[in-house]
Amino acid sequence: MLTIHSSPLQGFTDFRFRNAFQRFFGGIDRYIAPYIQVNGKMEIKPANERDILPANNKSLNLIPQVITKDADEFLFVAKYVQKLGYNELNWNLGCPYPMIAKRGMGSGLMSIPEKINEILNRVSAETDIQVSVKMRLGYESPQEIFHVLPVLERYRLSNIAIHPRTGKQLYRGEVDLKTFEECLGLSTHKIFYNGDIKSVQRFREMKDRFPSINNWMIGRGLIADPFLPAMIKADNPVYPENRYEVFNSFHDALFSSWEEALSGQKHLLMKMYTFWEFFIQSFPGSPKGLKKIKKAQNLSDYREAVRQITGNTLYI
Ligand SMILES: Cc1cc2nc3c(=O)[nH]c(=O)nc-3n(C[C@H](O)[C@H](O)[C@H](O)COP(=O)(O)O)c2cc1C
Repeated sequence: MLTIHSSPLQGFTDFRFRNAFQRFFGGIDRYIAPYIQVNGKMEIKPANERDILPANNKSLNLIPQVITKDADEFLFVAKYVQKLGYNELNWNLGCPYPMIAKRGMGSGLMSIPEKINEILNRVSAETDIQVSVKMRLGYESPQEIFHVLPVLERYRLSNIAIHPRTGKQLYRGEVDLKTFEECLGLSTHKIFYNGDIKSVQRFREMKDRFPSINNWMIGRGLIADPFLPAMIKADNPVYPENRYEVFNSFHDALFSSWEEALSGQKHLLMKMYTFWEFFIQSFPGSPKGLKKIKKAQNLSDYREAVRQITGNTLYI
């Protein structure tokens, strides 16, 4: 059966976004939470805690994620999320940002397979949490994954999601589908595909190329076009007639939950602007819209900018 997972975007797909998304669009089987990082302190930041508290994620299926290069940290987070009732923890081996990767975390750990082995060895011995892995092909080179996959073969994992780029590439260039294909022959784990699925057409091309893949992860594509997962599930690239009304209602819900969280209109409008950098892709007929959102000094400028883009009035 086809499943679609929401790929986490730190700063975007927190519980506020997920709840609004789930309420108005759906099409997502499981959401991966943006990563938890403990930095040796062995404490969970309040924002991370809020993000994964079951009370804040009632209507959705969530899997927490950790980023670490340390078995004790992994075990600490595993214990913490188990206490909250989760039975799976996703391990981030994909984050490309130099601040993280240069410190040997995220995609920076892909070149140290013996470290990955050491951590999984302790994790499999000391906790019964199910582990899934989300990774890139490597940091410097796409060949790094060929040394990591044999290590992963030694362990029971729920699945491995692969975003076929290197960390060094960030989001530049094409996804490396040839290397992804080679990986499929080298792993007995369930492999998820992740990367650049932005339309039903693109999804169909990928499904044709990789018929054995049933599980897909979408990150940026579902912020840019929140109708995408449901359209993929229906195998029908047709929007509902009231597309922009639904979008506006979703927008209002997201806005209101951020309004509660942030103090000051400036912060709120800045936050919404970061979402609009994605949303604007759903409005190709409004090239100047994003500039207007950016320039908005107050809520009434903002409302007017959104009305011009979507043709609908906001109720917030
Ligand atoms: C701003 C931003 C934040 C991200 N934060 C995370 C994160 O916390 N954990 C993670 O596994 N991936 C993170 N990613 C990567 C995405 O989940 C995803 O793997 C990547 O964008 C490729 O998939 P896509 O083309 O469908 O977006 C982030 C990406 C972006 C652009």
